[in-house]
Amino acid sequence: MTSQASNAASERDRVIIFDTTMRDGEQSPGASMSLEEKLELAKILEEMRVDVIEAGFPIASNGDFEAVRQISEIVTESTICGLARAAAIDIERCAEAIRPAKRGRIHTFLSTSPSHRDHILKMSQEDILEAITRSVTHARNLCDDVEWSAQDATRTEQDFLRRCVEAAIKAGAKTVNIPDTVGYSYPSEYEAIFRDLVENVPGVENIILSTHCHNDLGLAVANSLAGVQGGARQVEVAVNGIGERAGNAALEEVVMALKVRGDRLPYFSGAETQHITRASRYVSAITGFPVQFNKAIVGKNAFAHESGIHQDGMLKDRGTYEIMTPESVGQGGSNLVMGKHSGRHAFREKLKALGYELGQNALNEAFQRFKDLADKKKHVFDDDIVALVDDALASGADRIQVKQLRVIAGTEGPQEAHLTVTVEGVERSATATGDGPVDAVFNAIHEVVPHTAILRLFQVHAVTEGTDAQAQVSVRLEEDGRIATGQAADTDTLTASAKAYVNALNNLFARKEKTAPDAIASGF
Ligand code: KIV
Ligand code: ZN
Repeated sequence: MTSQASNAASERDRVIIFDTTMRDGEQSPGASMSLEEKLELAKILEEMRVDVIEAGFPIASNGDFEAVRQISEIVTESTICGLARAAAIDIERCAEAIRPAKRGRIHTFLSTSPSHRDHILKMSQEDILEAITRSVTHARNLCDDVEWSAQDATRTEQDFLRRCVEAAIKAGAKTVNIPDTVGYSYPSEYEAIFRDLVENVPGVENIILSTHCHNDLGLAVANSLAGVQGGARQVEVAVNGIGERAGNAALEEVVMALKVRGDRLPYFSGAETQHITRASRYVSAITGFPVQFNKAIVGKNAFAHESGIHQDGMLKDRGTYEIMTPESVGQGGSNLVMGKHSGRHAFREKLKALGYELGQNALNEAFQRFKDLADKKKHVFDDDIVALVDDALASGADRIQVKQLRVIAGTEGPQEAHLTVTVEGVERSATATGDGPVDAVFNAIHEVVPHTAILRLFQVHAVTEGTDAQAQVSVRLEEDGRIATGQAADTDTLTASAKAYVNALNNLFARKEKTAPDAIASGF
C-alpha cells in the first residue's frame, strides 16, 4: 500500500468528535451557562481539538444567538454549529449566527418516529419526507456544511428511516445523525441500524453518519461505540455526559475508550486528551453539577487506589491496576501541599498541573482567594485549590454578589442573619431570623432580592478532611418550571451557603431570558 493510500484508509477510520455540551448539555434542567462561560468553554474545547462545537440553538433566545455568533468569531480551528428546527426562520437565524465562523455548520432536525409524527407533529410520512427535502435544501442554500438529524430515529420504522436519510442526502446534507433521542436502544440494535443504512441507502458512502445517544438506560457510551462499529464516523457527546434527562454520551468516556481500546475499536479521534480533566472541572463549576466521585475518567476517585493489595501492585507496576495514566487525561501533577508562604509562581504552576490556565485577571483573583484561604487553613490541598478556582469561575460574572454576612446561631433561637449584597454594584442590606442559621441566611437573601423561587436542593460536603476544611455547597432553585443550580466553597459553611444560593439566583435570572422553542415541523 502506498503511503497516500494508507493515509486515505486511516482517514476513513477517523471519528469526528462533535461536542454538544453548550446545546444539548445546556438543556439539562439547571445547567445554564453565561455568555462569558460559553466563550471560555469554547476555547477549552478548541484546545482539546474537538472537531465540531455545537454552540447553541440560535432561535431559542438572543442569548443563544449571541453565544453562537461570538464563538464563531473567536474559534478558528473547530467547526461551529448551530441547531435549527425544520423551519425557514430557524435555519435563517442559525445561518446568521454562524456567519462569522471560519467553518460553520447548520444542524437541522425533524422527528421521524410514529410516536412523534402522530402525537407532536401530526404529519404523515410523506409530509416528513417533503419537509426534510425543503429544510435541508434551504439550509444548503445558506451554508455549505449541513447536518440533518432524524429525531427519535431509533424508534422509527427502519424502511422509513432509510427513505428519510436518502431524502436528506439528496437535498445536500453532508452529515446525517441517527439520534437515540430517548435512550432506548441497545448496542447491537443501534449498530445494526447503521449497518443497514450503510448497506442500503444510495449516496451514504459520500456522507458522514453520526451517533447521538441519550443515557436513559446508562447505555449512551456503549451505544455510541456500537454506532461507530456499525459505520458512524461522528459521535455527538457532552463533557461529563450532561444533557436532556439522564444526559448524553460522555465525551471523556467515548474519547478514552477509542484511545485505550484501539485493539477492539480500530478508529481514532484527533482529541488531545490531556485537556479532558480541565474541561470536566470547568463544566462542573459553571453548571453547578458536581462530578460523582466514581465517575469514569474524570471522577475524583478514578485514579485513586485505596486497598493495600492495589497500592502494593501500583508501587510495583502502574499497569497492574491502571489501564490509562492520570496524566493522559490531565489529572497529573504532584500533590504538593501549598501554604501561606507559597508564592504566585508556585501557585501558577500548581494551577497548570491541575489543568487550569487562567488569564491575568482571573489568576490575580484566584491567587488573592488562595492567600485568604491559606491564612485560615494550615494546609491547602489540590482539592481546596480546585474548589476555590471553580468557585471564582462560577461566580465571577454574577450580577448579585455576597459582600458581608454575620450570623447569630446557637441553642437559643431564633437565629439571626445580617447580610449585605451588591446588585450590579449597588449595596443592599437586611436582617432576618429563621429556624436555624441557614434558614435565617436564606430569609435575608429573600429580603434583599425578592423572588418566588423554591429551594429544591441544599447540599453540603467537605472538600478535604479536618475541621478547617472548606465546605462546598450546592443549591438548586426552581421558579415557574425553570431550574437553576449554584455552587460555592468557603471555610465558613454559612458564607458558602449564602454564596451558593446567590449564585443559583444569578443563574436562574440568566435562564429566564431563555425559553425553549416548541417542536415545529415547517415554517416555510
Ligand atoms: O436527542 C436528540 O434527538 C437531539 C436532536 C435535536 C439532535 O438532541
Ligand atoms: Zn439530544
